[in-house]
Amino acid sequence: MCGIFAYLNYLTPKSRHEVLELLLNGLKRLEYRGYDSTGVAIDSPQTSDIVMVKRCGKVKVLEDAINEHFSGKEYDEPVLTHVGIAHTRWATHGVPCETNSHPQRSDDENSFVVVHNGIVTNYKDVKTFLEKRGYVFESDTDTEVIAKLVHHLWKKHPGYSFRELVEQVIQQLEGAFAIAIKSKHFPGECVASRRGSPLLVGIKTKTRLSTDHIPILYGKDEKSPQTCEKDTEAAKAKVLPRTESTSEFMPLEEKEVEYFFASDASAVIEHTNRVIYLEDDDVAAVRDGTLSIHRLKKCLDDPHAREITTLKMEIQQIMKGNYDYFMLKEIFEQPESVVNTMRGRVRFDSKSVVLGGIKEFIPEIKRCRRLMLIGCGTSYHSAVATRQLLEELTELPVMVELASDFLDRNTPIFRDDVCFFISQSGETADSLMALRYCKQRGALIVGITNTVGSSICRESHCGVHINAGPEIGVASTKAYTSQFISLVMFALVMSEDRLSLQQRRLEIIQALYELPERIRQVLKLDSQVQELAKDLFQHKSLLIMGRGYNFATCLEGALKVKELTYMHSEGIMAGELKHGPLALIDDRMPVMMIVLRDPVYIKCINALQQVTSRKGCPIIICEEGDEETKSYSSRSLEIPRTVDCLQGILTVIPMQLLSYHIAVLRGCDVDCPRNLAKSVTVE
Ligand code: G6P
Repeated sequence: MCGIFAYLNYLTPKSRHEVLELLLNGLKRLEYRGYDSTGVAIDSPQTSDIVMVKRCGKVKVLEDAINEHFSGKEYDEPVLTHVGIAHTRWATHGVPCETNSHPQRSDDENSFVVVHNGIVTNYKDVKTFLEKRGYVFESDTDTEVIAKLVHHLWKKHPGYSFRELVEQVIQQLEGAFAIAIKSKHFPGECVASRRGSPLLVGIKTKTRLSTDHIPILYGKDEKSPQTCEKDTEAAKAKVLPRTESTSEFMPLEEKEVEYFFASDASAVIEHTNRVIYLEDDDVAAVRDGTLSIHRLKKCLDDPHAREITTLKMEIQQIMKGNYDYFMLKEIFEQPESVVNTMRGRVRFDSKSVVLGGIKEFIPEIKRCRRLMLIGCGTSYHSAVATRQLLEELTELPVMVELASDFLDRNTPIFRDDVCFFISQSGETADSLMALRYCKQRGALIVGITNTVGSSICRESHCGVHINAGPEIGVASTKAYTSQFISLVMFALVMSEDRLSLQQRRLEIIQALYELPERIRQVLKLDSQVQELAKDLFQHKSLLIMGRGYNFATCLEGALKVKELTYMHSEGIMAGELKHGPLALIDDRMPVMMIVLRDPVYIKCINALQQVTSRKGCPIIICEEGDEETKSYSSRSLEIPRTVDCLQGILTVIPMQLLSYHIAVLRGCDVDCPRNLAKSVTVE
């Protein structure tokens, strides 16, 4: 979804060209999130005005426009202090076009310009209020109300600081947002805030940072944002009393400093590894090179400071290396990423498993009424994939839920439920909403995420970081296999003291040990999969069938094909074949079937025969050397043998590769499929 990148250099000379290059690079790092238009705003070299360039389409288009626009020598002159803001937009309100792109502005003079991620749900009320006061709106976006509301308040209260103005504004906004604002009336200052959408501040100084935290300055004003949000339109005109800092701490003051405001860490890691993850309703303001974080109201258990986190991410992790696409790199990283997920947790010598992040909660989890696994897209599939093993090893009822549907149903949740939220990004709005819903009802919340510092991570009681490393391709691959393994490890922890399950546990731990090598073997099928892709890429549809431990692979494989190739694809539970899908089978319908030597083998063979006897010619995924199964078709992929409950990791990889190759053959944008976003931060 939308990406925010803002850059402020204080006493650190940079030419406008350098600033623009920095902003464009930041946007390039955020491209993977999914977007359809872009824009930047910087100070003009001739006047005190702000200049903006916005374009529909890719960052490259914006780059060309910038090169054309800002070609003069004056752009090479160093500026001591400057603020630039930039954005990638994923359209929600209004079609992708230049006018709807961000930054959005307050007026013709670009007095205040804003970049925004999220949706302001009460924008119509605010817009009506502002229209009555003479504001003319030029875009269809919800964002424009933010810029115009700051401007309105600035005119009414000329003595207010930039930060105070933004504080007033966010109290009037409902919905989700992350914003960064720049103003020609407050040169060298940048104010940013968030509620529900991610935002972090990167800090770069020449010397070691003088502190490891930024104190939070709480305002004296006691009126909570909630009260204010519910105010009527008339009340929107009323400005709340100014806030005053009550903290005895000093904010971060550095002599020469650069600040980066970004939607995620991958955009700042090449500049600094020191970041602060902002919390909902934080207002971060930089003035005279000093960063301060403000909140209007202090609640009892609110902290005194925001910690400066050191990112562990490596720059190579967000580069493509020798691969053509991030997705391909991430598929091939799986032998290592699964090891990283298990590192320090699965002890192969003592055959034990320890999950540090949930260790203390295990007794409570063992007493629970049921386990609920909740997620969206690929993350949901990892829950489907491991449900059977969790049922077997925990002997608890396990419910698997799509976050959106779970919320639609107002699903009953009890204090003795344990709810797992599985999310690569840790920011998916539906999953986050479901988390809050369960937390309110007293359930124990366990987060399974790949993003340290993400909202799901912070709002969970405990959790497991899957440690797969940054995943940039929109279509999730290595995060899936790592989520899968995290849940398997959890099942192993839960069954540690069950004598009757020891043999089974040992078998799984041994298979986990062998897994990286097995994955390497599967990856060797790449050229065979590419040949199959050549057979399939011109077809309209692909059915993927399986059951038991491999049903999740069918769902996940079909999702990958849909996401990447725009072909229709359906994951079909082989047991359901005769209840409808069999009608689709003829000699032209492309079908893949997963038939492995596990407890449902005979049933799978049954389904296979039903397909072949209707002239279907399935491509079979079977076990290495299984000549009998192979004999049902002229096309097959042989994968190495592993324990039944881990088969899903090996069977999904050919599907990842297949969708990738079909996408390339069809000329699709592999890393950024149309209409999709990596991190869906709106409901
Ligand atoms: C989006 C992505 C999917 C992803 C899903 C859930 O739809 O395009 O690839 O599986 O969100 O994302 P999460 O970050 O919560 O795992």
